Amino acid sequence: MGHRTGMGGFMNAIADLPVDPKVKEYTARRWELLIDGDWVKAKSEQTFQTHNPATGELLAECAQADEVDIDRAVRAARRAFETGPWPAMTATERGRLIWKLGDLVLEHLEEFAELETLDNGKPISVTRAVDVPLTAELFQYMAGWANKLEGNTIPLSVPYTPGAMYHAYTLREPLGVVGQIIPWNFPLLMAAWKLGPALAGGNTVVFKPAEHTPLTALRLGELIMEAGFPKGVVNVVPGPGPIAGEALAAHPDVDKIAFTGSTAVGKRIIGAATGNLKKVTLELGGKSPNVVFADADMDQAIPGAASAIFFNHGQVCSAGSRLYVEDGAFDEVTEGVAEQAKQMKVGPGMDPATEMGPLVAEEQLDRVWDYVESGFAEGARALSGGRKMDGPGYFIEPTVLVDTNPNMKVVREEIFGPVVTAHPFSRENDVLPAANDTIYGLGSGVWTKDLSRAHRMAERLHAGTVWVNCYNVFDAALPFGGYKQSGWGREMGHEVLNLYTQIKSVCMRL
Ligand code: NAI
Ligand code: MG
Repeated sequence: MGHRTGMGGFMNAIADLPVDPKVKEYTARRWELLIDGDWVKAKSEQTFQTHNPATGELLAECAQADEVDIDRAVRAARRAFETGPWPAMTATERGRLIWKLGDLVLEHLEEFAELETLDNGKPISVTRAVDVPLTAELFQYMAGWANKLEGNTIPLSVPYTPGAMYHAYTLREPLGVVGQIIPWNFPLLMAAWKLGPALAGGNTVVFKPAEHTPLTALRLGELIMEAGFPKGVVNVVPGPGPIAGEALAAHPDVDKIAFTGSTAVGKRIIGAATGNLKKVTLELGGKSPNVVFADADMDQAIPGAASAIFFNHGQVCSAGSRLYVEDGAFDEVTEGVAEQAKQMKVGPGMDPATEMGPLVAEEQLDRVWDYVESGFAEGARALSGGRKMDGPGYFIEPTVLVDTNPNMKVVREEIFGPVVTAHPFSRENDVLPAANDTIYGLGSGVWTKDLSRAHRMAERLHAGTVWVNCYNVFDAALPFGGYKQSGWGREMGHEVLNLYTQIKSVCMRL
């Protein structure tokens, strides 16, 4: 890993990094909670720290919400939902605010890109090109929906009131106060996926970012106020999952909880939500199959399979983490992917040449490393990678594992790191049951030139998304979500608006 060692032991102190002066100010600041339009300390006055995973150094200090602050935020969101300017606004006015938020994000693109890279570790080339532009795009796509959410008129034929005439119609209404909890892998973009449709639907929000990566959501909170959203419409309350997150999921005055994160915590959310039977949507883990047929265009399929797993350091819920390759092409594809892994520039995200940064935190590095070791213990072999890199920072080499079998832990469980397991297959009918042999059903990939086969596979894969001759393509207009234990509901597209609104039937006798 010449790139890494060649950096003279890394750019260490944050003061030495070539960052935007505004970003330096954001990291020097002590961040507070956004509740009811004001920035306030936690009632307990507790704080927590977020770190730069490239160096392990302290990045910023943030107020830490607990159940008392969550309750304050929920009350503020309730007031904003029931009274004041938000419910009185026209749908077009709401849409304009959301559009403006997208514009503000683009105006501050460089700031957001740097702040995200420092807090999460992902490469600056990626935050500039992917995370921040997609965030703006999502807000502006959702802005357009605000004034297009409609009910229907419905002809009635009630058999037991012969001759009676009715006028019946549906109203599409907001749910109310929505609690949203997101993970650390795409902190700003996940904020947009959640906030965009909630606001377009006319709801108010209590939003909890992940402990490892609170900064871009807090900065977004400032822009939300700058855009002119009324106070209390969006409240931003970082805090520990088991305390702040659990309190939000359990709160009796929250109408819906939307969660993205691990399947284990998703199950806890469902439990916490039973008190008032709030609506629940979940976007959870994955162990997504990526299937390469021997007739595929290998110039696309090999780099495609590499980026399916290595993009965002494998910290992607839909990462193509099980690579199935048709006999005859197995060596070419696995060696090709391993070669791509060896060529990847691993280093601090702030270096523009970096292609893979550190994992988000030491505990994630330990988790991923435990998986790699378990793979070796169960007989897998690394074609590339398979080593942790010396600190500072939480780096691991991009890893391709062969000699695997379907019962290995590395094949069955979500690793959430840059580790792919490779498996040969001989026929389409053999690979389908293998690909579907998982509790998850989030993403999947198919690489082939045979159109009929591509469509057959697309129908038969049990997953919320099937990418054909591409992978990890996301668009604000395209629904995304899980089959099986990968979740409940969908994000994005017009699908998601159904999950942030409810239908009221109005029936009038004429
Ligand atoms: P996590 O699921 O614990 O954290 C995600 C969010 O949930 C964070 O905001 C956290 O504060 C919150 N949370 C945690 N416990 C909670 C609780 N009891 N009630 C309410 N909210 C709670 O994920 P973690 O621990 O950061 O990562 C562990 C593993 O989870 C990863 O290795 C990966 O396998 C999986 N994961 C999957 C993600 C996905 O997008 N599918 C994202 C993040 C993690
Ligand atoms: Mg951090």
